[in-house]
Amino acid sequence: MRLENYQFIQEGELVHDGVRYEDLAQEFGTPLYIFDEDSFRQRLRAYKEALRSDYFDTELLYASKALLTLAVARIVAQEGVGQDIVSGGELYTSRAGGVDPGKVYFHGNNKLDQELVFALEEGVGTFVVDNRQEVQRLNRLAQEQGVVARVLLRLNPGIEASTHEFIQTAHVDSKFGENIHDPEIYAVIQNMEEASHLHFAGLHSHIGSQIFEETSFFQAATEMMEFATKVQERLSLTIEEINFGGGFGVYYTEGDTPFDVVEFIPRFLEHIHQEAERLGVPLQKVTLEPGRSLVNASGSTLYRVGDIKTTLTDKHYLFIDGGMSDNIRPALYEAKYEALLANKADQASVKNYTVAGKLCESGDIIIEDLPLPEAATGDLLVVNGTGAYNYSMASNYNRLPRPAMIHIMEGKPRLTVKRETYEDLLHLEL
Ligand code: LLP
Repeated sequence: MRLENYQFIQEGELVHDGVRYEDLAQEFGTPLYIFDEDSFRQRLRAYKEALRSDYFDTELLYASKALLTLAVARIVAQEGVGQDIVSGGELYTSRAGGVDPGKVYFHGNNKLDQELVFALEEGVGTFVVDNRQEVQRLNRLAQEQGVVARVLLRLNPGIEASTHEFIQTAHVDSKFGENIHDPEIYAVIQNMEEASHLHFAGLHSHIGSQIFEETSFFQAATEMMEFATKVQERLSLTIEEINFGGGFGVYYTEGDTPFDVVEFIPRFLEHIHQEAERLGVPLQKVTLEPGRSLVNASGSTLYRVGDIKTTLTDKHYLFIDGGMSDNIRPALYEAKYEALLANKADQASVKNYTVAGKLCESGDIIIEDLPLPEAATGDLLVVNGTGAYNYSMASNYNRLPRPAMIHIMEGKPRLTVKRETYEDLLHLEL
């Protein structure tokens, strides 16, 4: 397993910023989501800094679907970062954490009336309208509230980035956004511009997630800028802002080749600036909304090894005390992970294990063919790269209580989400 910069081997054991995994397991139990707060804060700062531009106003928005808790929302607020939300629940958490609502962008292909009203009441800064029907609905609700909502239109530039089909978002038949090649697209924008209680500010695109090719982002940016020129010419209005989405790929296992986002951003801004000059788009504001690349490497999951079984055909199963209920990604996207035994971190691997969860489903396999030293019941398995889309997609399948989460900052662990109890499983039930 590739170690993160907060992980070290000390006296034969893997430690997190000096903290022993065994001590964490004793104090907080397993499975346990561990989140390295220092590296998350550093990444937020580095992205923000990289986004500073002489050409445009810029805003970093954290795509909070990747990981959102009250503690994470507080960090976003403290670091002065904006937030991409996709539901009333995310907005509620954002507000509880003190994030400036003016810096919140509300996405979603079917925002409910009650969610839109809540967002209007809370003063959400920008609504990213997903389809033409939403235009009228939002306008009516804004009118009822006596406010003007700032809106971007989510567009689908038709770029097919190479990523898993389920996390592609910009193909022609996508449920998200309006297609750039739709003949009625100008009429949709005209309606937004003319709506009495909407302020049409610009465009949005998000080409997918876990993307490794920089060129896809450059291409999509050019498409968007070219489209912006056409809108300006046909409708004689100005595109103030373009939000270019998120989707930057991260490292999970060997073979993943992410680019350095902090190094990429200034070149990306330069590209946008040049296209703006070439095409005559007086763009004032550029926003980016990465999720995964901000949090994934800060998160890992700690499991206790239970029974170990070898099949007739010599397959070695290593069973853990969690599984697809805390990490659905291998089952859903064939996602791959790396892991090691924290208490045997300096020992050589001797065989391949299949790490299987404890849920009633054959597909509940977290890692296939993981090379490890001879494993034993009671060992501690650390799976890296679980910061994004693990906790946020966790379930109570098989009525497993969801794990606790801790943050580690300056070598000190702090509980941020309590472990669910059996009583919690019943707390809404009558
Ligand atoms: N903006 C929009 C409009 C999005 O739809 C998404 C992700 C993002 C930003 C953030 O993308 P990121 O930087 O995190 O790649 N559950 C899947 C990922 C779904 C992503 C959905 N949209 C997974 O576990 O891989």
